[in-house]
Amino acid sequence: MLKTEQEALVNHGGLKGIIMCRYRAKYALIFLLLATSGLMFLLRNILTLKLGWQNSSRAAFAQMRPAPPYRAHTFCSHLGPEPTPDEALEDRYLLKAIAWPELPARPAPVPLNQTSDPVHSLFTVLPSKGQKEWHVGDQLEALVHMHDFQGSPKRYGGDFLVARLHSPDLGAGVAGKVVDHLNGSYSALFPLLWGGSAQVQITMVHSSEAVAVLQRLREERPNRVFFKSLFRSGELSETTTCIPCLPLNYPQPPLCNYTNLHTGEPWYCLKPELLSCDTRINHAMGGYENPLYTNQEALLFQSRINIKVIIHTSGPDRINVLPQKIDETELESSTIKAEPDKYTPSGYYYQGTWRPLCGTSVRQFNDSSSITQCLTGKVIHMYGDSTMRQWFEYLSAFIPDFNLHRTKNVGPLMAVDFKNNILMNYRCHGPPIRILPVSTSELRYVADELDGLAGGPDTVVVFSIWAHFTSFPIEVYIRRMRHIRQALVRLLDRGPGTLVIIRSANFVAMDQTTSKHSSDWFSLQIDTVLRTMFKGLGVVFVDAWEMTLAHHSPHNIHPPPPIIKNMVDLILSHVCPDKKKS
Ligand SMILES: *[C@@H]1O[C@H](CO)[C@@H](O)[C@H](O)[C@H]1NC(C)=O
Ligand SMILES: *[C@@H]1O[C@H](CO)[C@@H](O)[C@H](O)[C@H]1NC(C)=O
Ligand SMILES: *[C@@H]1O[C@H](CO)[C@@H](O)[C@H](O)[C@H]1NC(C)=O
Ligand SMILES: *[C@@H]1O[C@H](CO)[C@@H](O)[C@H](O)[C@H]1NC(C)=O
Repeated sequence: MLKTEQEALVNHGGLKGIIMCRYRAKYALIFLLLATSGLMFLLRNILTLKLGWQNSSRAAFAQMRPAPPYRAHTFCSHLGPEPTPDEALEDRYLLKAIAWPELPARPAPVPLNQTSDPVHSLFTVLPSKGQKEWHVGDQLEALVHMHDFQGSPKRYGGDFLVARLHSPDLGAGVAGKVVDHLNGSYSALFPLLWGGSAQVQITMVHSSEAVAVLQRLREERPNRVFFKSLFRSGELSETTTCIPCLPLNYPQPPLCNYTNLHTGEPWYCLKPELLSCDTRINHAMGGYENPLYTNQEALLFQSRINIKVIIHTSGPDRINVLPQKIDETELESSTIKAEPDKYTPSGYYYQGTWRPLCGTSVRQFNDSSSITQCLTGKVIHMYGDSTMRQWFEYLSAFIPDFNLHRTKNVGPLMAVDFKNNILMNYRCHGPPIRILPVSTSELRYVADELDGLAGGPDTVVVFSIWAHFTSFPIEVYIRRMRHIRQALVRLLDRGPGTLVIIRSANFVAMDQTTSKHSSDWFSLQIDTVLRTMFKGLGVVFVDAWEMTLAHHSPHNIHPPPPIIKNMVDLILSHVCPDKKKS
């Protein structure tokens, strides 16, 4: 469907990256004249290039780019209203929560052979403390030693490692916690939650050197994913590039300012040549800025070499776990001491079923009658990205949905069960959303939508907002979530008993290209911000991060059906908790 005339023009147009028109033949000549001779046009294109709005793969123009320092001022945080003192304080707290170890200062970029190499790195399962065997309830520790491609030990931290403990035979798995000792060694901690065999798996997602590149891209190239809008009036239409982050201290080309009036969140499109700003009719994915890595940096992002590669063990990686030990001394003192340094994940899989470690126990909703019974009388509002739409699609197998002549991927979607009085909606979040063209009239901010709900015990609000924010400076996400949180607080005041469910980020499949804008490292940072900001708000978290890490299926931005079923069973267990148990 993208193979329209506009697309054809974009693809073959040299200068036309920014301004593309669908026009009738009679306009063609006039427009071409305007476009090629107009001084404004030239100026705009030069500015556009300076601003980095243009796809830099157009080699001819690449050399017109000014030297990098100007990008340091391309900061999204400088836009929008000044944060209040409380917000500024929270900003600092959140930035501290996501701080990542810095690389030691070096005069030149580190050569590849001195960067972390998963193949030369090793882990060891440490013996259990003070006993010969392992029991359910113990904590297992594995020590990881990172080495470079020449086999020398690494002396600094910052590698992005993930760990899981699993038993394929038992359909069991749990996410481990990785502690960075900042000297090239890491501890992976696992709670022992089931009896039988258990195997440690440790993966290097990115080397510390690669993370440093991602961090730089995020701050200095905030517009490496860009968007476009179509403007149309009568016979005339134009498409221009749109972004949220404007560079500072540079003369701006003529812009259309679509900053959200309620929240102050910025959004800009280049002003069309001929049409006015209020003729914008849609929003869509624009493209990716390429290339963004230097040749040296690209070596840090090689599939099967240093992106998501398993680290081997120097000894056994499997242990046998015995049933829980009843310790007599512990029984006598009758207090099983809380161990503050013990890591508790949010849940684990056993026989393929997710078991949360705190909160509601999960029930299985295997058939249509148990699902409709649970949802009877409920209104479910879903907001977010395609990872939220997966839940809608799963449930719409049980609640009839409408074909409203809308593109399935874009929505909004609606499902209704008249008999059981169930209404379920899905709507994508506002910009930045990498999507097929979505009509501007359907492009709504979640905070604004929440303000339109009455709420109450029959209302369920569910959202998942992460995947389209990974390429931006973290401030863009913090600001978005802050306004959603404010709207949620208002909603919970207005409609006490509203159930709010938040789905976190999940692991994705990554290669060299997708790492630049969608790396798990970006998602991890976003996820940490999300959890920190919504803590203590009485909302339910669906920990998609752990649910995809602990599971055996390969990482995918859209987790496969068994994980979706576990997620939906979890939310249904919150919508209609088991009265017998609670
Ligand atoms: C490491 O890489 C650098 C730069 O590519 C090269 O000059 C050097 O010879 C390499 N060292 C080894 C031991 O391979
Ligand atoms: C790294 O730090 C940890 C924790 O402080 C320590 O146990 C370990 O011995 C150190 N490793 C090296 C190689 O210095
Ligand atoms: C865009 O509009 C917002 C809200 O009216 C305003 O605060 C902001 O300064 C405007 N941006 C520019 C670049 O003019
Ligand atoms: C649901 O299905 C799973 C797997 O098929 C089964 O183990 C479980 O017992 C079922 N639960 C209920 C409540 O029917």
